[in-house]
Amino acid sequence: MLKVVVLISGGGSNLKALLDAAADSAYPAQIVAVGSDTDASGLEYAREAGIPAFIVRPRDYEDRAAWGEAFAAGIREYEPDLVVSAGLMRVLPADFVREFSPRLINTHPALLPLYPGAHAVRDALAAGATETGVTVHIIDEGVDTGPVLRNRSLTILDGESEEDLHERIKQIERPLLVDTVRDIATGDLQLGTSPAAD
Ligand code: GRF
Repeated sequence: MLKVVVLISGGGSNLKALLDAAADSAYPAQIVAVGSDTDASGLEYAREAGIPAFIVRPRDYEDRAAWGEAFAAGIREYEPDLVVSAGLMRVLPADFVREFSPRLINTHPALLPLYPGAHAVRDALAAGATETGVTVHIIDEGVDTGPVLRNRSLTILDGESEEDLHERIKQIERPLLVDTVRDIATGDLQLGTSPAAD
């Protein structure tokens, strides 16, 4: 059973999808803890599922590196086989990435390498794109630059708002993340070798 720690900052619908999948005993991964940088509303899903949740706030630390070390220590306690950033809205410091990568993955609401960063949906719309999507990738020391594991695309509708588009992206993002974690757990998807997009 693959032990997974999930990291969130917001509503946690991707976390919820993972928790729902893991509630089925046939799913080969188990969510052992949820970490956040803030009092994220999605932490409620962890509480409902009886899974430990922890918050490590950047403002309680002198700098990003010190925060990263404290966040890493919180995660380490659960001895995860995989760390999943599912809506963690913070760039992870280099030491943190070195400790967990390549067993550290992120889900991003665009077809990387297009539209990295915190405003991927807005940026796709501003660029006049007709297609965007979602990418699950290994986190490296850059911002959304790590090797792509899986992606899915969707067509942007005429006049679609950022909010509506993001919601449609999240509808394909949740099952993609659930499937990707499953495939990592079964060994169908290898980390640390040379992952390829499918
Ligand atoms: C997701 O689209 C994720 O890719 C992005 O933020 C969103 C988080 O959604 N970074 P949720 O908190 O899982 O609902």
